[in-house]
Amino acid sequence: MTYYQCPLCATPLTLQPTGKHYACQNQHHFDVAKEGYLNLLPVQHKHSLEPGDSKQMLQARRGFLEAGYYAKMAESVAMMIAAHCPSHQNLRLLDLGCGEGYYSRGLARFMEEQTPVELHGVDIAKFAIAAAAKKQSNARFVVASTSRLPYVDHYFDLVLRVFAPSNALELNRVLKPSGLLLTVTPGPRHLWQLKEFIYTDVKEHTLEPELADGFVRIATERIQYQITPNPEQRLALLQMTPFAWRANVQVQQSIQSLAELTIDVDFNLTLAKRLENSQPISPAAKKEVDE
Ligand SMILES: C[S@@+](CC[C@H](N)C(=O)[O-])C[C@H]1O[C@@H](n2cnc3c(N)ncnc32)[C@H](O)[C@@H]1O
Ligand SMILES: [Zn+2]
Repeated sequence: MTYYQCPLCATPLTLQPTGKHYACQNQHHFDVAKEGYLNLLPVQHKHSLEPGDSKQMLQARRGFLEAGYYAKMAESVAMMIAAHCPSHQNLRLLDLGCGEGYYSRGLARFMEEQTPVELHGVDIAKFAIAAAAKKQSNARFVVASTSRLPYVDHYFDLVLRVFAPSNALELNRVLKPSGLLLTVTPGPRHLWQLKEFIYTDVKEHTLEPELADGFVRIATERIQYQITPNPEQRLALLQMTPFAWRANVQVQQSIQSLAELTIDVDFNLTLAKRLENSQPISPAAKKEVDE
């Protein structure tokens, strides 16, 4: 069974007998990196030298996540998946914009007791994927863009998307006809106290974010709690946010200088089902969408 497709000609990719590279019927070759991941982002599809999150952002996220501040949310994600997926079948799961694979590792630990799972992770940042692959040999990681996913049509039972970009056409294409999409987005009060350092008038996020076309919402959950990161971890958290660029040195110093700062975290978990009549997208149509 092949799950990858060639990013250049969209035909299936198969692992060659050497076990060291994949190739398609048109002789396009992709080497397996020493960490075990596959780079399926050809240079002509790259819009910058090092696309995705920078090394600095990745390091900040690694430290913060591994300190366990989002562990409760990760556990709720695993529980929602376990509650809605049949436990007898091999669940094919894709972690979209997986970064260094924090959620994939958590899911593997939780799910192995519940249901057999075949885990895949994709991110456009090569450093993130190399780190993810090093830490989790029981998952398959690839470097690629969410707007051109290198997987064959209708392969996955579930796509997980935690604070990551996505492309509705590609989601519809890679999911099975009744496949599930679990999205984690910021809830209304997410990082409220951190935002107060940056905005004079902090605005709440919407509770029910927009759904990707072709999906219907089947379950939602809001997870809210408070965290008290130390000054260094507060800055790491800031680095992980889309508003980090607004924080000048003065703002960063004020965030660090407080002896204690309690911060609200607030997550929306939205589980949606792919509508059965959503049509797969032909390579020609897909090409038009991408350009
Ligand atoms: C905010 S981070 C979230 C990472 C991880 N899901 C988490 O919550 O820790 C967004 C991730 O999406 C990746 N990313 C950004 N644009 C992407 C794209 N077009 N295709 C694939 N990944 C992308 C970034 O490199 C980064 O790792
Ligand atoms: Zn090819």
